[in-house]
Amino acid sequence: DWKMDSFVEESIANIREKVGDGKVLLALSGGVDSSVLAALLARAIGKQLTCVFVDHGLLRKNEGDEVEGVFGSKGNFDLNFVRVNAQERYYAKLAGVTEPESKRKIIGEEFIRVFEEEAKKIGHVEFLAQGTIYPDVVESGLGGESAVIKSHHNVGGLPDFVDFKEIIEPLRDLFKDEVRKAGLELGLPNHLVYRQPFPGPGLGIRIIGEVTADKVRIVQDADAIYREEIARAGLDKTIGQYFAALTNMQSVGVMGDERTYDYAIALRAVNTIDFMTAEAANIPWEVLQKVMSRIINEVRGVNRVMYDLTSKPPGTIELE
Ligand code: XMP
Repeated sequence: DWKMDSFVEESIANIREKVGDGKVLLALSGGVDSSVLAALLARAIGKQLTCVFVDHGLLRKNEGDEVEGVFGSKGNFDLNFVRVNAQERYYAKLAGVTEPESKRKIIGEEFIRVFEEEAKKIGHVEFLAQGTIYPDVVESGLGGESAVIKSHHNVGGLPDFVDFKEIIEPLRDLFKDEVRKAGLELGLPNHLVYRQPFPGPGLGIRIIGEVTADKVRIVQDADAIYREEIARAGLDKTIGQYFAALTNMQSVGVMGDERTYDYAIALRAVNTIDFMTAEAANIPWEVLQKVMSRIINEVRGVNRVMYDLTSKPPGTIELE
């Protein structure tokens, strides 16, 4: 793609000119935007870039290792990669907290604290890089609902808690599909470039009520099975967003000769244009049945699987 080719080349030149021999810090989430930005900056300035990847223990199954595989020392990019395993810290902070917005707040604040600690270890950085893209720029400029929703979804960026001179946002003129093209151009793997959206608070808002390590294990395993079967059925490119959530409901079931009293998993899958409205996807019954039986048989602690039919509005896409 010649257009992306020249975008990449031009950006690299601009970044080099602006940054000189300064240090750049990037909070890498493993999402599309921050990953593409990491790849671009690595190409432009190599080890002048440090990426801090905070594993908050609320990522999807194996996701932390996948991100490390791409950007860590065994990956294909020349940069400094710091993975912070902060799982226990997050679980401790979240213990006993059930209210969705409180969970979001705690997860967001803890991220800032962890990131700040890492920034201090790295020492003085001149630049903070952010994966802002064009739709973020437009929406944060609007008043009204959109802006509220965005800030609530913490896409607005990091507060100025790190001592740096300037923010750089090399992707701010690109639409999402252009960001993906740039990612491919830069050699990122397909699975990363075409990842479905994943909320900042991660599985923290896909576990209704209190978050515990065991509940994270349950929702990770159920979600991994769901994604595997959706891909096997060839539906992964057509459904807008799909995931498993752990309801806070336990109910009676029977397994062999035993009575069980276990959790219910909710499967969610929606088609949407802009994530402001959405409809439940029409997944073939056989696929749902296969997912149900695998989750029940393979995930300890689950004895029911439900499919969430609710549109947005009145439902939201996430369950919290
Ligand atoms: P809802 O649940 O509001 O989700 O219909 C709309 C889109 O936003 C994502 N989402 C979030 N993203 N932080 C994020 O970064 C959040 O707290 C958050 N809550 C929802 C959701 O995954 C969907 O794509």
